[in-house]
Amino acid sequence: KPPLRIALAGLGTVGGGVIRLLETNAGLIARRAGRPIEIVAVCARDRNKDRGVDLSRYPWEDDMALLAEREDVDVVVELVGGADGPALALARRALAAGKGLVTANKAMIAHHGMELASAAESAGAPLKFEAAVAGGIPVIKGLREGAAANAVSRVYGILNGTCNYILSTMEKSGRDFGDVLGEAQALGYAEADPSFDIEGVDAAHKLAIISAIAFGSRVDLEAMEIDGITRIRSADIAQAAALGYVIRLIGIADRDGEGDGLFQRVQPCLVPRSHPLASVDGPTNAVVVEGNFSGRLLFQGAGAGDGPTASAVVADLIDIARGVDTPPFSVPVSALETLPAADPGHR
Ligand code: NDP
Ligand code: HSE
Repeated sequence: KPPLRIALAGLGTVGGGVIRLLETNAGLIARRAGRPIEIVAVCARDRNKDRGVDLSRYPWEDDMALLAEREDVDVVVELVGGADGPALALARRALAAGKGLVTANKAMIAHHGMELASAAESAGAPLKFEAAVAGGIPVIKGLREGAAANAVSRVYGILNGTCNYILSTMEKSGRDFGDVLGEAQALGYAEADPSFDIEGVDAAHKLAIISAIAFGSRVDLEAMEIDGITRIRSADIAQAAALGYVIRLIGIADRDGEGDGLFQRVQPCLVPRSHPLASVDGPTNAVVVEGNFSGRLLFQGAGAGDGPTASAVVADLIDIARGVDTPPFSVPVSALETLPAADPGHR
């Protein structure tokens, strides 16, 4: 079979990881995909930046938007970030041109996922975003394929690696919030604007996406109640520990038991030490899915960073190379329900 030809937009933490992974595991990827995956164009802002990878063998494209127009490109891989701006413009152009689109951009999918999925359906082009939720954990695949036969009642968990790194490091070392945040940024876990992480917005983006897949509903970010960890101090963590709890930023999406609604919330929670989520440390994420036949499923692993996120991006590319054809949100956009926001007072 001919190679799957990809264009990489964005060569930062995740883009660099994707190049390293495709180079390191080229042989096994080609065998599993049934054909090689070949990078035919790359683009970032600064052509001269040292990215720790040899870019000389990959054609450089100065104008990112043009990646979508190139005839030699089958799939555009968007690893730039931002809900709108150049990432969204590129995504729209790629799908309109009938190219596949793979992205790690949860902000863009949470805000524009319905539009992009409709565009992908109209074009008959694949749209995949496994890396957008929980880094290397195949949680979207787990929900869309593994739990496909279940009515899901609840999906919840730790969805932001930066916050979990901050909370668990403060817990162990008693160090300062700002100091540990700086470290998470240096390690490549945080968003370009880390307020998205610490204010709970990034976790909300991810929760909105998995919630739509779990419940077959349209992404509804507006309905989300969001609180982050900016007000958590070392003293709060010590107080919680004295009572037998740890503090974790938890996202939860729950079908209202008494009605048709959907309750979606991100907030810092007291988690009893005996609960599996209490031992989730560092940039690790963990997602619990409660299905009516599967019972409780726990997905856990590295939620941020170059290697794990690249692993999810390339898994999507392998699916496309194999010809796996699944609607981005499990069912066609027209079949997604609109669920009213549930009143937490009913719970
Ligand atoms: P980085 O900031 O490390 O990389 C962003 C890249 O995009 C850089 O190479 C940058 O170029 C390039 N870029 C930015 N603006 C433009 C532009 N206008 N034109 C061309 N190139 C541009 O981000 P990450 O790699 O961390 O994140 C990328 C995406 O992956 C985001 O959507 C993020 O939310 C998501 N993600 C990140 C994870 C992580 O652990 N870091 C995990 C899961 C998802 P230059 O290098 O020249 O400045
Ligand atoms: N900033 C995100 C996090 C990256 O810390 O979880 C992974 O999506």
